[in-house]
Amino acid sequence: MDNQEPKKQRRIRYAGSHPKSFKEKYKELQPETYIADVAKIIEQGKTPAGMHRSICVNEILSFLQIKPGQIGLDATLGYGGHSVEMIKCLLPNGRLYATDVDPIELPKTKERLEALGFGPEVIEIRKMNFSGIDQIVAEAGLLDFVLADLGVSSMQIDNPERGFSFKIDGPLDLRLNPKSGKTAAMLLKNLSKEKLVEILINNSDEPHAEIIAKNIINKIKKGEVIETTTCLQNIIKDALAFIPPNERKEEIKKACQRCFQALRIEVNDEFGVLDKFLEKLPGSLKSGGRVAILSFHSGEDRRVKKSFQHFNREGVYAKVASDPIRATSQEINSNPRARSAKLRWAIKA
Ligand SMILES: C[S@@+](CC[C@H](N)C(=O)[O-])C[C@H]1O[C@@H](n2cnc3c(N)ncnc32)[C@H](O)[C@@H]1O
Repeated sequence: MDNQEPKKQRRIRYAGSHPKSFKEKYKELQPETYIADVAKIIEQGKTPAGMHRSICVNEILSFLQIKPGQIGLDATLGYGGHSVEMIKCLLPNGRLYATDVDPIELPKTKERLEALGFGPEVIEIRKMNFSGIDQIVAEAGLLDFVLADLGVSSMQIDNPERGFSFKIDGPLDLRLNPKSGKTAAMLLKNLSKEKLVEILINNSDEPHAEIIAKNIINKIKKGEVIETTTCLQNIIKDALAFIPPNERKEEIKKACQRCFQALRIEVNDEFGVLDKFLEKLPGSLKSGGRVAILSFHSGEDRRVKKSFQHFNREGVYAKVASDPIRATSQEINSNPRARSAKLRWAIKA
């Protein structure tokens, strides 16, 4: 019995010509094996499941001006696309530190990078929040460059088990690290209406915050549980039933996007950790060191801009971006997620 070969797992078959669920996307989930299929999906302007397409790579590299032998930090490793390009510039003799809070995607990225020949001798990967950048500096010394590509990766959005998207049914989780903290469902259970309105407005400028919060809190008071993405989406739909039929569908979609984003920001304390990171950044860079931050949300971009300008006035940064750099129209056509990206930079005095 012991000598028997383990039975090969049959790949999932799907009826019809297109996969309908995440688990059926077996070709996309193995991009290294199905290179041509993945290329076809990218050509169509889509991002294959299980993959993330790095944004503004050329713009970031041209600003960071990474040289062989330098030491830097990729604060948001994700799929590792930016990391790979930065490592190529710092070889030989350089070293990249990389952090991410996601315990699900991080080991997969580590394995993928190792398979590409980028092991611990060139990249030191840590599962940690970038707000602890000072811990990296205590070990690595002052850094030549830092990159942060804020928000969530396509792998996180596309995985229904993580609850980041209202387009797929799943648990209402929204944690970047599902092993720590409260899920969005738990958060909703104990919120007052006033606090929920505040979250929806402060985090996402939700114009229908009052009515949506009222509907959510009423359901909870009646003993209903809001534990799935579909359940929350249905409540938002009901709350916006007063909108004229010809505008309703589009407005519901936008409200869902904003509400899910607002809850995600709250669950992960995204503004709080960004503020800590921005505060510690100047003390983490060498003189002449460069930092680039890519954001996808006006609240994040505002924080980055204010911090860079503040430290520039104090003489801590020698130069900062006056306007954000945007993705080219070519990149936006090929990857619509690049549309809202804003890249800001600063150089340490
Ligand atoms: C947009 S993706 C990064 C994609 C990456 N640049 C690439 O090329 O594949 C953002 C990543 O940052 C991580 N992240 C978000 N906030 C974080 C934080 N405070 N500390 C560490 N990682 C964080 C997320 O888990 C996610 O993997």
